[in-house]
Amino acid sequence: MPIKILPDALINQIAAGEVVERPASVVRELVDNALDAGARRIEIDVENGGTRLVRVRDDGCGIARDELALALTRHATSKIADIDDLMRVASLGFRGEALPSIASVSRFALVSRQEGDAHGWRIEAVHGRLSGPEPASHPRGSTVEVRELFFNVPARRKFLRSERTEFGHIQEHVRTVALAHPQVEFRLAHNGRPAFWLKPAADLFDRARLAAVLDESFLAQSGSLDQSGAGLRLRGLLGAPTAARGQADLQYFFVNGRPVRDRVVSHAVRQAYADVLHHGRHPAYVLFLDIDPGAVDVNVHPAKLEVRFRDSRLVHDFLFRTLHEALANARAGAGMARAAAGSLPVAATVPVPPPRQSGLGLGGMQALAGWSALYGDGGNGPEVAGVADADRPVTGPAPQSGAEIPPLGYALAQLHGVYILAQNARGLVLVDMHAAHERITYERLKANRAGQGIISQRLLVPVSIAVSPREAAVVEEQGELLAGLGFEMVMAGPGQARLLKVPSLLVGGEVAVLAKQVLADLAEHGSSRLGEEAENELLATMACHGSVRANRALTLPEMNALLRDMEATERSGQCNHGRPTWVEWPLSELDRLFQRGR
Ligand SMILES: Nc1ncnc2c1ncn2[C@@H]1O[C@H](COP(=O)(O)OP(=O)(O)O)[C@@H](O)[C@H]1O
Ligand SMILES: [Mg+2]
Repeated sequence: MPIKILPDALINQIAAGEVVERPASVVRELVDNALDAGARRIEIDVENGGTRLVRVRDDGCGIARDELALALTRHATSKIADIDDLMRVASLGFRGEALPSIASVSRFALVSRQEGDAHGWRIEAVHGRLSGPEPASHPRGSTVEVRELFFNVPARRKFLRSERTEFGHIQEHVRTVALAHPQVEFRLAHNGRPAFWLKPAADLFDRARLAAVLDESFLAQSGSLDQSGAGLRLRGLLGAPTAARGQADLQYFFVNGRPVRDRVVSHAVRQAYADVLHHGRHPAYVLFLDIDPGAVDVNVHPAKLEVRFRDSRLVHDFLFRTLHEALANARAGAGMARAAAGSLPVAATVPVPPPRQSGLGLGGMQALAGWSALYGDGGNGPEVAGVADADRPVTGPAPQSGAEIPPLGYALAQLHGVYILAQNARGLVLVDMHAAHERITYERLKANRAGQGIISQRLLVPVSIAVSPREAAVVEEQGELLAGLGFEMVMAGPGQARLLKVPSLLVGGEVAVLAKQVLADLAEHGSSRLGEEAENELLATMACHGSVRANRALTLPEMNALLRDMEATERSGQCNHGRPTWVEWPLSELDRLFQRGR
């Protein structure tokens, strides 16, 4: 075939391939345009999941009659004019591709009116052909109507999912954008039925607005954050480790108001949570980074979902430091000081019901005042227990009558092989045995590793484990590294390793599963030297497999020993997966439950 310049309509359709993946992409581009136009109110009407209609109406600055056709022309934009502008884009759009791309794969209409115009003007585009502008009635602002998306691109239509799924994407997108633009009113309707209406709010932390957009349990278990440094500002809501999720589905990150997915960012966040979360648990957060537009390149992704920081190290370190600090303070409510004083690092009182550990004990962050009022806990919500209270010397029915009762009290019984039931000075304490033991083991392994090394113990009877060729290579070549982690293994034949020594702390655990997991991790990691993060993750894996499992009967002295260990261990309020390890019901709450004294 001879070389030819493609017709405009086809060029636009090619661009549409990148920019318009599904109806939600149309919503994204039109809402971005409305926000760039300074809209204070944005109304979105969708039919059939957006495939039949997406209509976005705004009260922004509008487009002049003579520029309507230009708005639908490729590479025509009012947002940048030269390379300097491109180097410091402050608007959401700048490529001048969205409207022509969308118009090339739909039946498209745009009505707009500027301040001072007698009426609005309407322009239409079908099959790449423009018609208009014609006079039309419209208040100040613009309305874009996109009908029959992909009507002329059957291949794309095939990839569309059900109406519900497509609408779900739209809804999620509008929610996300709304988080970053609290001052803008958003209305969304599907097939004529209102889906939500977000009234304008004064700032990012407005409670009613957040509650309309985010998960209630996340809000109850998060604290707000506002830190500046190194020319950057980070604001938002940081979920406590207990708010972590099985999926990375509550992670919102905005750079200058633009929602982005970024590896530098997710790495920094993951590292900040590394000590309190492991194994497939994902932190929950809503974070807004403000940065000089000149320090970030937004021209790296056609749909503008990614950015590139010019100094990614600086951004990474600022994020990590800020979040790490906030979490460190939160974990323990100044846990270091209390642990040093010999009392419990994290203490929390639980309401009855629902039983949960404190979510708002985020000492380093500001708790959002009034959550409990908002959610109707009526003051019954979680509160941070006064450690001083727990320390109060009391005489009571504890084993050592007359002596001080330790913060977690004394064990009374084991419940269903899973929980330890204990009594302290304030009331009832319930401990998740496995979670608590796991945290203690992990902290000890870390301390050993940092100190004299992990002490190992020879197994009376060596254990055989099946290994893959890559795992066999680890056994043969990484003996020193394994020894550093407290293991000794030798190959006993093809595909068979023999486990000779394990860390003494883990002797009671499932040593074969444990060793196998460590080998698998090392084989995957493929390096003879581990970073601290990877190493801590390995230690956490070991702690998990090496810790007391549910359904193991413990004696009272064993249980009490565990309680004392918890009191002496930093961060013992959460297990390595971020779940709480214990909860407390004060007598007063129990009295209330049974309506005593009324
Ligand atoms: N809702 C709107 N209100 C005012 N102007 C708009 C609106 N939508 C689009 N425009 C104008 O049309 C131009 C082209 O829009 P678009 O194709 O999305 O490119 P970009 O947003 O990258 O500039 C914009 O630069 C802007 O001037
Ligand atoms: Mg745009």
